[in-house]
Order: sequence, then C-alpha cells, then structure tokens
Amino acid sequence: MDRNFLSQLAMAEANKIDLRKYPLDLYDNLYESLSKYLRVGEKNLLIGNGSDQIIELLLTFIGSGKTVTLPTPTFSYFVSRCQLHGIKISKIPLLPESNTFERRLFMSSAKKSQLVYLCSPNNPTGNQLDRSIIQEILELKDVLVILDEAYVEFAKYSMARSVEKYDNLVILRTFSKAFGLAGSRIGYFISNKRFAKFIRTNVQSPYPVNSLSLALAISVISNVQKINECVDLIKRERQRLYERISKMDRIITYQSDANFIFIRCNGKYKSIINSLRSHGVGVKELGELYGYGKCIRITVGTPEMNDATISALNDT
Ligand SMILES: Cc1ncc(COP(=O)(O)O)c(C=O)c1O
Repeated sequence: MDRNFLSQLAMAEANKIDLRKYPLDLYDNLYESLSKYLRVGEKNLLIGNGSDQIIELLLTFIGSGKTVTLPTPTFSYFVSRCQLHGIKISKIPLLPESNTFERRLFMSSAKKSQLVYLCSPNNPTGNQLDRSIIQEILELKDVLVILDEAYVEFAKYSMARSVEKYDNLVILRTFSKAFGLAGSRIGYFISNKRFAKFIRTNVQSPYPVNSLSLALAISVISNVQKINECVDLIKRERQRLYERISKMDRIITYQSDANFIFIRCNGKYKSIINSLRSHGVGVKELGELYGYGKCIRITVGTPEMNDATISALNDT
C-alpha cells in the first residue's frame, strides 16, 4: 500500500478523533465495515491487536498439554508460541518438490491432535494447499483448525465463507500485509458466532485496539479499489520476479500465492546474502530448513526495489 496515501489518511483521521473517549463507536464501525467487506456476519468476527495477539488468545483458550499438528516449515512465531504455552507439536514435513505434505501422514497426526494450524498461503514457502486437503481436515469435527490467511489477498482463494459450514474453523486475518497497516496492529478472526462471542467476552481484554488504529482501518477498508490496485501491482511484480529468478543458476524458486518469493540457495546462501546486503536489499534470511537446505524469503516491493533484488541476485 502506498506510504504517502496512508500518511495522509492517518493525519486526516487523527484530526477527527476524540481521544478522551473509549473507542466503542469505532469498534462498532470497524465490525460493520469488515462484515460488508468479507460478506460474513459481524458476530462471526473478533478484532484484536494484530493476529499475533489473537494467536495468543487462541492458545490461552486451548491451554497446555494439548497437541497441534502443523506442516514444517511454517510461520515460526506460531510454533514458538505453542512451545511457550506447553502445547505439544507434531510437525509434518513439506516436501520440497511440491511444497505440500504427505496427506495420509498429516491426517493420521491430525486425528490424534486437538488443534491443526495451517498457513494459507504458507509463510515462508508462499503456496496455498489444494482446497480439498483443508476440507478433508475440517471434516475432523473435534479438531480445532486455525487457518492463518495473513496473505490471502494475494492468493487464489479464501475459506472465509466456510465458517458457516465448519464450526471447528477459525480464520486469522490481518491489516498488516495487503492493507499496509503493520504499524497499526490490527488483526481479526472469523469463526462461528458462539466461538467469537466466547473469546470476545471471556478471553480478550476490553478495547485492545486504540482509536487511531481503528479509524485508520475503517478508512483503508473503505478504499477497496486502492487496495485492489496495490495488490494487482504486487502480483504483476511477483510474476516478473519469479520469471527472472527461475532462470538464475543454482537458485530454486517457486510460484507464490503471497507477497513474497521463496528461494532455495543451493550452496550459494552466503554469497546471495552478501550481495543482497551490498545492494541494500533487506530479506528474511531463513537459514537451513528441514529438507530444503538454506533458504531466503524475498518480499515483493516496488518495481525499483525488485530491480535492485534482481541485480543483487545476478551478481552472485
Ligand atoms: C502467517 C502470519 N500470520 C500472522 C502474522 C502477524 O500478523 P500481525 O501483524 O497481524 O500480527 C504474520 C506476520 O508476519 C504472518 O506471516
């Protein structure tokens, strides 16, 4: 999302807000706007202080001693928070040929767990699983499925409407990625109404998001056309980056459904990192990932930023 556009919105909203008041009306407004944007009921939603905080609420609710099944690699923050909450982790490896897991292996572990976590598209590999795999897991009615759709605006499909069919589905979403509001700390989940109400009233503290962030989120979500334009640009640039990188020697890359590209470095990790640094390109240095070797996650930026990334990779 365009930085100047967001700064102007922030200043305009700051002038309108009465900071002496608790943000009750702003909460109501954001619930209403989100409900229209997603075409799900307001009561199916819970707004929180970034999806990281919502993960915390969900893990508090789930409690220690339970087991989660998840693919590896996946969003490392979720894995470390499970460890902190005393939740046992059953990791099912993704296969580097396909970025998907052996289906029977995952299902057999999921059946013995109380929780499944899937990131769709997956951070860091960038791909979405076949929708039928997620549906098969959701048929395990006693297993709570957290589907993290942080990057879904860049992807092929969302399961948001499936909360009407599956009571065991909780979908995590955020304003931090496609909406460009990472600094405002706003996330939300979509679930069945009973679960959303339970977490809102029994687990979450009151008013976790401040007035300015709420006002900004309301303003951004009313500019759907602007968001779509930015997402389209990122998708075009993602394809360009993919095509250029996939022709490079000794780098393996994958088509992505997110706003980043995942690469395997085949013995060139050090020289790639050094070259990216010397060109002033910041990336996520993932290091060694089980089955994949050393890997990097490159966020798709503006055309100029992506040109710098391509030059840096060409110089290795
Ligand atoms: C998969 C995934 N979920 C959640 C988050 C956190 O989002 P938020 O900024 O809403 O806490 C991230 C951020 O990197 C992420 O990659």
